[in-house]
Amino acid sequence: MATGKALSKAGLADLAVLGGPALFTGDLHVGRPNIGERAHLMARIEAMLDSRWLTNDGPLVAEFEAAVASRHAVRHCVATNNATAGLQIAIKALGMTGEVILPSFTFVATAHSLRWLDLTPIFCDVDPATHLMDPAEVERLITPRTGGILGVHLWGQACAPEALSDLARQHRLPLLFDAAHALGCSHRGQPIGGAGDAEVLSFHATKVANAFEGGAILTNDGTLADRLRRMRNFGFRGTDHVDILGINAKMPEVCAAMGLTSLEALDEFISVNRRNFAAYRQGLAGLPGIRLHEAPAGDEVNHHYVILEVDEQAAGVSRDELVRWLRAEGVLARRYFHPGCHRMAPYRAEDPLAAARLPVTDRLSAQVLALPTGTAMTAAAVEELCRLLGFLAANAAPIRRRLIDLTSPKAA
Ligand SMILES: Cc1ncc(COP(=O)(O)O)c(C=O)c1O
Repeated sequence: MATGKALSKAGLADLAVLGGPALFTGDLHVGRPNIGERAHLMARIEAMLDSRWLTNDGPLVAEFEAAVASRHAVRHCVATNNATAGLQIAIKALGMTGEVILPSFTFVATAHSLRWLDLTPIFCDVDPATHLMDPAEVERLITPRTGGILGVHLWGQACAPEALSDLARQHRLPLLFDAAHALGCSHRGQPIGGAGDAEVLSFHATKVANAFEGGAILTNDGTLADRLRRMRNFGFRGTDHVDILGINAKMPEVCAAMGLTSLEALDEFISVNRRNFAAYRQGLAGLPGIRLHEAPAGDEVNHHYVILEVDEQAAGVSRDELVRWLRAEGVLARRYFHPGCHRMAPYRAEDPLAAARLPVTDRLSAQVLALPTGTAMTAAAVEELCRLLGFLAANAAPIRRRLIDLTSPKAA
């Protein structure tokens, strides 16, 4: 990653949004893939090609499942081709029906996985401090139509597993967790993965460790694991016998090869993220109105998501202005997650009144900003980016004025 001008010299005219050169000449992406040891990946792929076993319960998938189950201290791991398919077969295997309660402040795959199965998502608001679904709100939303609870471990933080498990037990509801962000994370000293009926990790390329694409369903319930295995393979039990409805959600061997190679390097990826997070914490300290989100005490996260909350009034700059101005400098910051799922077309049309009960989700989705981290990001780049953010925030008013001048007809 090369940088352009030194920020200490940056006058306003030096800013890329005002016509200067970009500060970062190679774009900085959120979720740039972390790549493990290439030689290990290639050796696995060579062996796979030699064996001509490319998919269907291959040895690499079995090894991948054992490694994930061990890392997350659960009895069973069922690998899938992605987390969305994993969520869907888990939802089906758990027999969820009718309405399912979930947060709106999540990636849309959480909601889609329900709606695709003709279930009705009931969006729940989140806690402003943690960004996680609030169990007290979940309880208020439970009705005789409720057929399940789908918690999301957003940013790798545990979504109230104890309180939601109590609620699910009391109301005899299946409880599933979307743990797409939670690889390598723990809660109160225990790896995430063993709560509720099942939890689903993502190994998408943009996640902390990837299998190109991939998912993993974790459970301590052997009967459920057996059902999930059949469901992901067209419902087959053995070679010719189909005894339940199934689909093709199998992870191919080449993905397991990448998944295993990534898992070997997971601790290294997390330690780079931790170093970057510490640099962000230091670089952003004292910036008015710009708050770095921290996981609650008791949660050990993988720091794969560096999330800011930008309070426009206090910061003097809006989240969306920062996104545009950073983009010009080569920083592809993302609005994770914006808008809340309830404002996306399929859901807005079905429940137009949902926004009334989701004020925190609406506020957060207008304020959050995800910044780049991972092994493609150096601590020096984080420091430079923090200085840039401070500069943009401190000079927001004159930047805005110059932008107006540049676009006014007399500037032409
Ligand atoms: C919270 C959440 N759930 C589900 C998914 C879907 O995962 P996948 O891309 O593996 O299907 C993602 C991200 O990609 C996610 O961020």
